[in-house]
Amino acid sequence: MSRTTIGVIGGGQLARMMYEPAIKLGIGLRLLAEGPDVGAAQIFKDVMVGDYTDEATVKSFASNCQIITFDHEHVPTWILRGLVAEGKLVRPGPDALQHAQDKLLMRRRLTTSLDAPAPKWQACADAAELRAFGAEIGFPIIAKASRGGYDGHGVWKLDGPADTGIPFEQALTESAGEKVEIIGEEFVDFARELSVIVVRSPSGQAVVYPVSETIQRNGVCRETITPAPGLSDEQAAGITRLGLDIADELQITGVLAVELMQRTDGSVVVNELALRPHNTGHWTIDGAHTSQFENHLRAVLDLPLGDPRARDPWCVMVNILGGSNQDLPSELLHCFARDPKLRVELYGKDVRPGRKVGHVNCYGDDLAEVRARAEHAARYLGGEIREG
Ligand SMILES: Nc1ncnc2c1ncn2[C@@H]1O[C@H](COP(=O)(O)OP(=O)(O)O)[C@@H](O)[C@H]1O
Ligand SMILES: [Mg+2]
Repeated sequence: MSRTTIGVIGGGQLARMMYEPAIKLGIGLRLLAEGPDVGAAQIFKDVMVGDYTDEATVKSFASNCQIITFDHEHVPTWILRGLVAEGKLVRPGPDALQHAQDKLLMRRRLTTSLDAPAPKWQACADAAELRAFGAEIGFPIIAKASRGGYDGHGVWKLDGPADTGIPFEQALTESAGEKVEIIGEEFVDFARELSVIVVRSPSGQAVVYPVSETIQRNGVCRETITPAPGLSDEQAAGITRLGLDIADELQITGVLAVELMQRTDGSVVVNELALRPHNTGHWTIDGAHTSQFENHLRAVLDLPLGDPRARDPWCVMVNILGGSNQDLPSELLHCFARDPKLRVELYGKDVRPGRKVGHVNCYGDDLAEVRARAEHAARYLGGEIREG
């Protein structure tokens, strides 16, 4: 038995969705899960339950794996550096990963090394500095915690000087053992949000998926449309180049998702980076020739990457958000009877209000029709709508 085993740290839906391509590639996956019942722990055969912020736990987990990869970005960098020092393959590595952990570090690096387009930004030590930044560029402004944010937690829109104390009161002072700082950012009154997904292997091969439009509701991704409607070839090429440049500059292994905001004049700015399969890439499972999960594993194994192109003119993904329906599979009968082309992925999570508990993918030639089908199925599965 000498088959390669990849250790995945974090037991959420992203780890869970890596399992299917791992079966096809014949590789073993081992899971370090937060608890015995999390989404991925229901699927993986080889599960260790433990705390990913504890060095001894992570080391003991890694000792039985050839390569380590991630479901999330929260493993403390110093623990990963220890693994690398011992010769373990950590993909993506800590030097790259820290740019997804720390938004301030990311802003500094992309500004100095790449001159990548960004909103105006400034690190602010206290409310007075944030007030001065707001006075300089004009309110409203955005304030962000450098670390530990997710789904809109750790992002504040400040309407005037009186609000500038809020982020300092509400931000945790520490995340994964490291200091949280506050960044002031220009409020971008964007026309829409976009995302581009790049996958890069240690050999330096990279593939880029078509650019998606992403629609957030209350800070949570609700829908993606691929390709982003109305994006010119020139704009798409510029965004593709930007994604490749960032992946190369940070020497990323695996998936890099670049979240972007598009201004009304068509130009884009980078919002943030994720170094793991990303919600805005879930459409690739059913809509692309190779899914982001398979390409992530191929990259981690340093295998040639698969074709990232879309199979159909349009692919729409809609997240199923927790609502009144506690038993999602019980509604599959209705949804599949209504739409034989519907693709559903349920994450096996406890249903809680607003929580991402699954997603649907629909694809086809007519965008309005594809969107309507996806929206209906996601709302039906979540319990938002009922039909007699
Ligand atoms: N500078 C900005 N101007 C306007 N909206 C912003 C800005 N930064 C973030 N946002 C909005 O807040 C959302 C969450 O911010 P983000 O940094 O992506 O945090 P999270 O880690 O929660 O995803 C973004 O998707 C976008 O809608
Ligand atoms: Mg985000």
